[in-house]
Amino acid sequence: MAFVTRQFVRSMSSSASASAAAKKILIKHVTVIGGGLMGAGIAQVAAATGHTVVLVDQTEDILAKSKKGIEDSLRRMAKKKFTENPKAGDEFVAKTLSCLSTSTDAASVVHSTDLVVEAIVENLKVKNELFQRLDKFAAEHTIFASNTSSLQITSIANATTRQDRFAGLHFFNPVPMMKLVEVIKTPMTSQKTFESLIDFCKTLGKHPVSCKDTPGFIVNRLLVPYLIEAIRLHERGDASKEDIDTAMKLGAGYPMGPFELLDYVGLDTTKFILDGWHEMDPVNPLFQPSPSMNNLVAQKKLGKKTGEGFYKYK
Ligand SMILES: NC(=O)c1ccc[n+]([C@@H]2O[C@H](COP(=O)([O-])OP(=O)(O)OC[C@H]3O[C@@H](n4cnc5c(N)ncnc54)[C@H](O)[C@@H]3O)[C@@H](O)[C@H]2O)c1
Repeated sequence: MAFVTRQFVRSMSSSASASAAAKKILIKHVTVIGGGLMGAGIAQVAAATGHTVVLVDQTEDILAKSKKGIEDSLRRMAKKKFTENPKAGDEFVAKTLSCLSTSTDAASVVHSTDLVVEAIVENLKVKNELFQRLDKFAAEHTIFASNTSSLQITSIANATTRQDRFAGLHFFNPVPMMKLVEVIKTPMTSQKTFESLIDFCKTLGKHPVSCKDTPGFIVNRLLVPYLIEAIRLHERGDASKEDIDTAMKLGAGYPMGPFELLDYVGLDTTKFILDGWHEMDPVNPLFQPSPSMNNLVAQKKLGKKTGEGFYKYK
């Protein structure tokens, strides 16, 4: 009987520790690598929701610009959110900024972080080098996530020894405004990692959706072929850009027409995504290159950011 009891206690305690090991990670400390458009937004939202955040980029100058951008954005938000109580708005800005620090040395800050979110240049080799290096310095429990729009998460995760603690966290621009985050689960991502990231997105006030590691995930997989089909419609002379934009706004209820959206996103970005997919799957009719878009990109007419794309901007 005593033996049975000891066995029972032993098996109970080992299953208790197994379930403790399977417990989700409560993400409190976040390291965001890349202080550009997306990284600054992710850092801002994480700090504003009470996480301790370190934002990393290559130089102090870039980080100073990112921090200024974050502060300006927070002030705009506070002005709207605390119209009746400007003091509370000031406190919100100060509290958020106090949760945010910066560094130019990722390796020296990841030892005590729960989550690394990478939002650097869209280049597999550069992302692999970064994660391979950080893998050596980050704590055992640290989850790695990439914000890539077009690369395979699995091919980034493979640069590390923590494929089970690696996933995609795909935010949308502008991050403080856009509610959606796509959480990308590779075949190696553990359920614990996945659930920890879903919870993290919720604490950011975002709405997470889950998708497998498939080109474009959900949003871009549907959006990019739609944008390219709009260009094809125009290339064939079936309708004008203006009429296509108006039709989609008034007929489909979209806030922007496809050509306005292409110019807003940047034609180089859409071309880059499409080229990547075409390389992966050259016979897929949805992934065929668009001559007019390629032409504009070759002339450096990239959309709003260069002052001209499908439309001209003052
Ligand atoms: N722009 C978008 O709308 C959008 C949307 C979703 C996802 N993404 C993805 O997010 C990532 C970043 O995009 P972005 O638009 O913010 O780019 P960005 O060019 O605005 O910012 C990238 C930043 O990363 C920094 N950087 C580059 N290499 C680095 C390194 N090794 N270490 C530290 N910092 C480094 C750069 O200095 C720059 O500040 C890309 O993977 C992109 O595909 C972009």
